[in-house]
Amino acid sequence: MAANGLEIIPSARRMIRSQRDLGYEFAAAVADLIDNSIEAKASTVRVNVDWLGVATTVTIADNGEGMSPEQLREALRFGSERDYDDADLGKFGLGLKTASLSQCLRLTVATRRNPNRADIAAYCWDVEHVEAKNRWEILPVKTTDLPPLALSHLKETTGTVVIWERLDRILGYKYPDGEHARKHLFAVTREMEEHVSMVFHRFLAGEVRGKRLAIYVNENKLVPWDPFARSEKETKALDSNAFPVEGIKGRSAVIVEPFVLPPESKFSSKEAHTRAAGPRKWNMQQGFYIYRADRMIQSGGWCGLRVVDEHRKLSRIAVSFNPKLDEEFEINVPKMRVALPSEIRADIEAWTKPAVKMAEEIYRTKSPSSPPVPPPPAPPPGPGGGTPKPPDDRDFKIPGGGGTSQKSKKRTATAQELDLVADLLIQVADASEVVAVENAIARARMKLEGQF
Ligand SMILES: Nc1ncnc2c1ncn2[C@@H]1O[C@H](COP(=O)(O)OP(=O)(O)OP(=O)(O)O)[C@@H](O)[C@H]1O
Ligand SMILES: [Mg+2]
Repeated sequence: MAANGLEIIPSARRMIRSQRDLGYEFAAAVADLIDNSIEAKASTVRVNVDWLGVATTVTIADNGEGMSPEQLREALRFGSERDYDDADLGKFGLGLKTASLSQCLRLTVATRRNPNRADIAAYCWDVEHVEAKNRWEILPVKTTDLPPLALSHLKETTGTVVIWERLDRILGYKYPDGEHARKHLFAVTREMEEHVSMVFHRFLAGEVRGKRLAIYVNENKLVPWDPFARSEKETKALDSNAFPVEGIKGRSAVIVEPFVLPPESKFSSKEAHTRAAGPRKWNMQQGFYIYRADRMIQSGGWCGLRVVDEHRKLSRIAVSFNPKLDEEFEINVPKMRVALPSEIRADIEAWTKPAVKMAEEIYRTKSPSSPPVPPPPAPPPGPGGGTPKPPDDRDFKIPGGGGTSQKSKKRTATAQELDLVADLLIQVADASEVVAVENAIARARMKLEGQF
């Protein structure tokens, strides 16, 4: 007979701190909350970032179904309980808490479920309170204490408002009112806008049946960013394929759709080309775009199947899977990175080869016909002279082609050496190191060409 178990409750004081460090960045944390809004059938999400020095707040308000007070209390539990469907974006019962507390010390959730009456329930997690009491205790929040923005939102509609206060991670503790903190907040807000436009592009463009979504950041409506520039006439969509995987939760197909984007000269406009570059620009955005239930988890990189290479920058591949295959894709709590299941890695590598080859050919054929690159003009004398070329306008030199100056010969030789080192590093890297190694190699290439 089994002995009676002895329950040992984790130390709230120690655990709550560790839950803040699961590796979220600001943009990924906001995206995690938007997942929840989509799941609550919201059609609009409004993200507001209000700079007020130490009193800065981030508010994420949706018009979804909202929660009853009991549901809200359960939602606030670390590891909240509920059943998930195949198409659900949630998985761990953690995101709301861990994503929020990765950015702030106080998380308030206010919600309204009744469409006929503005009954609002609100509670908060306050890290300092938990530490002081050493108990997993949430605090009720009076409606009258809610920020006016949250209150007016929930008077209009059912839905949920998440409020982040005491943003120690974004503002830093030393001078949270200072110019540096303000600039940093502005920069991470821009980054978040780009990230969210990218990861939810299928929802924003109405490509996911029954889940069209509009997202506003500080009242600006986000425009979806399509990694495959499918509205460009010259974008090539190669044959797609479905690879069945026997997952531990059942069989499901992984859809692979390869695209080759046009070179700059074939884009409809310079603006369209610049926008298609993406948040991390052309070189770093090549490779796999992995979608879980239509939400993008990974954007670019080759998952260890190839190295990031200037010549391949026009190839981008959509890989879509169902949450049934979460185990096989090794999804983690921040849902920021996945691994390709080992049983289809070789198939995916083979299936995407033609796209990579085509991208390389386009890259190579455009080069000889391109006019020779003139040397950069000498900067005019005096302060402020010379406008640096925008980084994503410059192409790398192909070994053996292009300029003939001593400097470019030396650079070409070093680029070839880098190729050798890159291959070797990729061969010896562990699976967990590959992405970091690829990124470092890409940065080294950029540095060689003076882009970095
Ligand atoms: N905006 C929202 N509207 C309605 N319900 C919500 C909202 N945000 C969270 N919830 C409820 O709270 C629960 C917990 O959310 P949380 O993000 O912590 O976990 P999850 O979404 O279930 O899983 P994951 O950790 O993978 O995100 C959700 O399952 C959902 O029931
Ligand atoms: Mg969630």
